[in-house]
Amino acid sequence: MKRIRKAVFPVAGLGTRFLPATKTIPKEMLTVVDRPVIQHVVDEARAAGIEHFVFVTGRNKHVIEDHFDKQYELEATLRGRNKTAELAQLEADTPAAGATSFTRQQEPLGLGHAVWCAREIIGDEPFALLLPDMLHLGVKPCLAEMIEAYEAKQGNIIGVYPVADDETHQYGIVDVGGATDKVAKIKAMVEKPAKGTAPSNLAISGRYILQPSIFNLLATQKRGAGGEIQLTDSMLELAAKEAFHAVRFDGRVYDTGSKLGFLSANVAYAMMRPDIAPEFRKAIGDILNG
Ligand code: UTP
Repeated sequence: MKRIRKAVFPVAGLGTRFLPATKTIPKEMLTVVDRPVIQHVVDEARAAGIEHFVFVTGRNKHVIEDHFDKQYELEATLRGRNKTAELAQLEADTPAAGATSFTRQQEPLGLGHAVWCAREIIGDEPFALLLPDMLHLGVKPCLAEMIEAYEAKQGNIIGVYPVADDETHQYGIVDVGGATDKVAKIKAMVEKPAKGTAPSNLAISGRYILQPSIFNLLATQKRGAGGEIQLTDSMLELAAKEAFHAVRFDGRVYDTGSKLGFLSANVAYAMMRPDIAPEFRKAIGDILNG
């Protein structure tokens, strides 16, 4: 069994749901409390043992590359001012030399296309895929639970979480044949099922472990829903040949690409911070009580 060493972060999308903020700032750099969204997701991958971080970027996204680099002037200034805690945090957040790769998706042709752009860097080994706008807040990092499941089951693994029955039409939904186990074999997947037709309420959460065979399917560049090259279409083809298991995440999932998800994530993450939570709780209370 090959270990999961590399993770892909597709960050080339336009973030149209968050305009005008995303006109010049990538949505992945918007902050949840004081860390960019992408940093939270890289933290999750590191906690799961990922060693190499592959970013699929696009135009106007170079600030993401800068974020994961050293900032010598800033560090010298902090050192001069004895800001040791801030310096240590910057150091801890920066991946080791050679542990990052950046490739470009020249046109935002869809998530499937973005993943395909990482094929040469991934090579012939299974890899993790994390959609950076989906934040997972739980006792254990979602990807760590998925890697555990991968070590037991191999094949392909998809992170899922329960959503309200009347919202299933907004998500990619998996069919696990009614199983209630944390790890369950996937029997079928359906993208945005018509209302009342979903086989379960388990939505795909934006975390995947995929075999490199997915690249051969993505290479056909077939357009799917919305004229985009969809990852789900290739996963469906792969599922006819290889096993897929779902791992249910029991924490909270926030889609920070939507305004509501972003604002909710900020409140939830602030409440987890001992240095902020007590005063923030009071401030929110004051706002709500007028
Ligand atoms: P989304 O559909 O959520 O991102 O794609 P988007 O297209 O940027 O957002 P909206 O809908 O216009 O607001 C999920 C992830 O896939 C990446 C996005 O950057 C996001 O992290 N993505 C999507 C790409 O890298 N390339 C694409 O062509 C499409």
